[in-house]
Amino acid sequence: MIQSVLANIPTPCPWRDTVYWYDTIDSTNTRAKELAKAGAPHGTVIIAGNQTEGRGRLGRSFSSPDGMGVYLSVILRPGCTPDKLMHLTCAAGVAAMAAVEAISGVCPDIKWANDLVLGSKKLGGILTELGFAGNRVDYAIVGIGINCCQRAEDFPEELQDIATSLLMHTGKKISPAILAAALTEQLFHMDWTLFSEKEQLMETYRRHCITLGKEIVVIQNDQKYAATAFDIDKDGGLMVRFADGFEKVINFGEVSVRGLCGYL
Ligand code: BTN
Repeated sequence: MIQSVLANIPTPCPWRDTVYWYDTIDSTNTRAKELAKAGAPHGTVIIAGNQTEGRGRLGRSFSSPDGMGVYLSVILRPGCTPDKLMHLTCAAGVAAMAAVEAISGVCPDIKWANDLVLGSKKLGGILTELGFAGNRVDYAIVGIGINCCQRAEDFPEELQDIATSLLMHTGKKISPAILAAALTEQLFHMDWTLFSEKEQLMETYRRHCITLGKEIVVIQNDQKYAATAFDIDKDGGLMVRFADGFEKVINFGEVSVRGLCGYL
């Protein structure tokens, strides 16, 4: 599979020289963190055939069966303070959307903040983690999981109503290796444009964010608040309006968002 990944990353993309492949691993994000702490350079890419402890946001797990999805993390060393990276998850979402569209012909939407969505179901997700050196970012890990070849029964029972794969949505069997290569290329492009084209990136994110205009439930510390999501700010924060007219920007942190009737 690594040969197939490398063969499909265009030669001008220098990240193809720093791809680590694992048949099986606990989590590509965990491995990326270890490699980053050991000094791995900007643009190191970690890809796995399967993950035994794939992780999602808010301590959730990410189902990662063997050969059925893309499980990929990249190490970035942007050398800035964390406030400049607030939009990183959004930018990675735009990169993932573009990779999926390029390979499968269908363009997913995004459920704020970090879920890729097709046909009202979750196609994948993004987990961004930062390591610090003083008040600066030493490394940022962008981890992306995309479901390619699962059938409904391949997902754990509790996910079967809310998860989908490219196979389930398009009927086409998409190779995780080819999608991983496209994703590497798109993340490389994202890295070039992360700061210089931030406004355009955020505009693309807004256009594809299905949370906008929806009645949602904001869940924080076991408390639930009904609100309307009306915009995304320049850093990726979700702007919501509560029933009493009070407006607030919600950042990724510890907040989860649900539609009034379930996942969306
Ligand atoms: C989420 O759904 O909240 C985010 C899921 C992110 C999953 C990817 S798979 C590659 C990388 N390694 C992990 O352990 N998680 C991310």
